[in-house]
Amino acid sequence: MTGLFITLEGPEGAGKSTNRDYLAARLRDEGIEVVLTREPGGTPLAERIREVLLAPGEEQMNPDTELLLVFAARAQHLAEVIRPALARGAVVICDRFTDSTYAYQGGGRGLSLERIASLETFVQGNLRPDLTLLFDLPVEVGMARASARGRLDRFELEGQAFFDAVRTAFLKRATAEPARYHVLDAAQPLAQVQRAIDALLPALLERARG
Ligand SMILES: Nc1ncnc2c1ncn2[C@@H]1O[C@H](COP(=O)(O)OP(=O)(O)OP(=O)(O)O)[C@@H](O)[C@H]1O
Ligand SMILES: [Mg+2]
Repeated sequence: MTGLFITLEGPEGAGKSTNRDYLAARLRDEGIEVVLTREPGGTPLAERIREVLLAPGEEQMNPDTELLLVFAARAQHLAEVIRPALARGAVVICDRFTDSTYAYQGGGRGLSLERIASLETFVQGNLRPDLTLLFDLPVEVGMARASARGRLDRFELEGQAFFDAVRTAFLKRATAEPARYHVLDAAQPLAQVQRAIDALLPALLERARG
């Protein structure tokens, strides 16, 4: 039995967490076992790595250090949560995954995509998400939503150019893999975004029930 691995991607304030809960509730209503998780993090140890990644600090974090920490957290998360859940047939909904690494460390920081790809294979083997929902929206809209929430983390302190590169990288990946990606217009009112998610449900339920 293999479950279904769904990831939610997009920049800060796009609505990933809000809609993660919404999608989980819809699937649970249908009797599906759903495991909700997030990256970086998802286990106590990986959440400690998340704190290191997000905390603004005096010492500049080297981009390679950032990349390796992201994958270190992911290795732990895969071993402890994601792989066991998929093995028992659950639907795993993960708030950010490796597409964020390509977008932030690749697009944003400018690290080589080949290097990211080699770490992806090293840590994940051939495991890739079955479906990725990309919550796409103009950079300013996402930033405004994120800053309305309070103190900014180390990524949220980046400027417009960084987030433009992040958005471009996400969209490029979506275009390159249309079968896996579903792009949602996250600038719409929440009710409309959720209607778009509802439209995906019949096909998702069919896949989840194998
Ligand atoms: N379509 C929408 N229209 C207006 N506001 C929205 C919409 N979607 C989410 N929001 C609001 O924007 C804020 C950010 O949403 P959310 O926390 O779900 O984003 P996120 O993608 O998880 O962000 P982060 O990457 O920073 O965790 C929340 O206050 C949420 O209620
Ligand atoms: Mg969130």
